[in-house]
Amino acid sequence: MKKGVVYPGSFDPLTLGHLDLIKQALTIFDRVIVAVADNSEKKPAFSRKERIQILEEVTDGMPGVEVDYFSGLLVNYLRKKNINVILRGLRAVSDFDYEFQMVLTNRRLAPEVETVFLMPQEDYFFLSSSMVKELAVLGADLSAFVPAKVEKELKKKLGKIK
Ligand code: PNS
Repeated sequence: MKKGVVYPGSFDPLTLGHLDLIKQALTIFDRVIVAVADNSEKKPAFSRKERIQILEEVTDGMPGVEVDYFSGLLVNYLRKKNINVILRGLRAVSDFDYEFQMVLTNRRLAPEVETVFLMPQEDYFFLSSSMVKELAVLGADLSAFVPAKVEKELKKKLGKIK
């Protein structure tokens, strides 16, 4: 039986850390749905459409990867997709509290759903989308942190990111 996983997140924007996680997930799961959250409390720099377009372009040619979005509760989205595994990346210890809260909340809401964590390669251990946006504003070379497509899109947005 084919096993699917939902990899949810803001992806604002996609980083090489996210991409690394998607590649790792493909070695375990047959179907990886990258689900862009539409209801993030954070005000995203990239619109939902832009984040989806970037993901679609960058994951084009990666069999097994689907790009989608969801609003509302993540567990409801999983039920709709008939998938019972959530994938999250775990980087430094600082991620732990938040991720732990999320696992327990989702477990309370949907006991049939499990969350699995994968760790990015050490090069991306301290990489985050917010760090990337800060570096972009400061004019840093982003090639070690994001796909070329994202670097291009970030440059276009520079004036709008605070
Ligand atoms: O990339 P992020 O911002 O860390 O992703 C967080 C996200 C979007 C996965 C999380 O906020 C989420 O699942 N939001 C949907 C609302 C929900 O289901 N909340 C209950 C679980 S905390």
